[in-house]
Amino acid sequence: MDKCQPIIIGSDHAAFELKEKIKAWLLGKGYRIEDAGTHSTASVSYVEYGKKVAGEVSRGHFSRGILLCGTGLGMSMVANRFRNVRAALCSDIFSVKMSRVHNDSNILVLGGRILGDILAFELVQTWLDTGFEGGRHLERIQSIDASQGEGLIPV
Ligand code: RB5
Repeated sequence: MDKCQPIIIGSDHAAFELKEKIKAWLLGKGYRIEDAGTHSTASVSYVEYGKKVAGEVSRGHFSRGILLCGTGLGMSMVANRFRNVRAALCSDIFSVKMSRVHNDSNILVLGGRILGDILAFELVQTWLDTGFEGGRHLERIQSIDASQGEGLIPV
């Protein structure tokens, strides 16, 4: 991914420390980062921060976002309710790669209570470096948002 495009990142308290480490690591590599919070280890709801980041990606203000909570589960549930958002909760390199190649994931979700720092960095780097294959996968991802009338919640 082009380093000029800013990445929006957000977490709850449970993953605040990993968010800070990923942010510093990405800044050190020359990426532009917008930090949507949280800004401390004080207890907060992951829903608020998930909505902030997913909303910005959904509206096209950011092409990519990273969300973290304790397990990543709550953040992925919130993010995937937003139109145009394809949030991938991953803890292994193969899933991260495929989330880009086949699903064109635009939000990477990580579990701060699950991952070590080095693995988290590798997951993020792989996610940023891997492109979307397009073709038949483009039609498939386009049909996700086209499913609105079939029960997808409008946002
Ligand atoms: C916070 O305790 C925890 O519930 C949250 O970080 C996340 O894991 C929810 O899915």
